[in-house]
Amino acid sequence: MNFQGSDILTAKNLSKADIERIMEVAEGFLPYAKKEKQSDLLNGKILAALFYEPSTRTRLSFETAMLRLGGRTVSVAGMEGSSLMKGETLHDTACVIENFADVIAVRHPQPGSAAEMADAIGIPVLNAGDGAGEHPTQALLDVFTMLQERGKVEGLKIAFVGDLKFGRTVHSLSYLLSHFGVKLYFVSPDALRMPDDIMGDLKERKMDIIETESLEEALKHVDVCYMTRIQQERFTDPQEYQKFKHAYVLTKELVEKYNGKMTIMHPLPRVGEISMNVDELEGASYFRQVGNGVALRMALLALVLGKV
Ligand code: CP
Repeated sequence: MNFQGSDILTAKNLSKADIERIMEVAEGFLPYAKKEKQSDLLNGKILAALFYEPSTRTRLSFETAMLRLGGRTVSVAGMEGSSLMKGETLHDTACVIENFADVIAVRHPQPGSAAEMADAIGIPVLNAGDGAGEHPTQALLDVFTMLQERGKVEGLKIAFVGDLKFGRTVHSLSYLLSHFGVKLYFVSPDALRMPDDIMGDLKERKMDIIETESLEEALKHVDVCYMTRIQQERFTDPQEYQKFKHAYVLTKELVEKYNGKMTIMHPLPRVGEISMNVDELEGASYFRQVGNGVALRMALLALVLGKV
């Protein structure tokens, strides 16, 4: 893939070579993300961070990445502060922002929203989460974190735990991991299983996947346990959410009983599915994972803006 001018909308069409190139560039940006070095690489460039759904990590790490590489940002935080509330379409919004910025990162509740904006304009659009669809930049930073924590991704055994139906990070991450010969354990209540269309795609890619409702069963086998939040905002029936909100809770005791050596990841925010005392464990990598997001997003911005 020629990254310059490209959109990053889905993890589905990234090749192994694309992923490895992004990882290589992100590795080079780690000292800048860790505030050890300074750069003006993106001087004169502007990122529009359009976040029509709540975000702490993704919006601020995109903005931090841009600022630490010498670029600047303009942003929208929340639907209510934007002209979408007056009925403006995503198409028209994109055509407006193209006049201001060199690259867009967008989060919106509707699956396909980032693609809709990208279709309307010529500057790169990065999907920062489109409803229950995908979150490719998070999944890329997750692969980067696996590399950092485990030294390789090839052949890892990985459990995805929680809301696999609405959790967009695991949708994107499944596609990325399909290139690395991994074995996946999908741990969820039956009602929150990985969607059939994605399962179909993964089957076509001949992925080795076990679906189970038992966290304990999966923990015995894995190198990485990737916990997810039950996505309250996607439930139409609040009682359904209540039924599942504590479906899986990873405690220090569980980790020590079943698998003290595994790496524990979470895209965050956590809302109870990882006990606070898990933070003390060496394998608890979710806050390092957040930090990796800055280097990874520096890499994406530099690549699509043709600076590396
Ligand atoms: N992981 C993630 O997308 O976090 P935010 O919702 O805070 O951006």
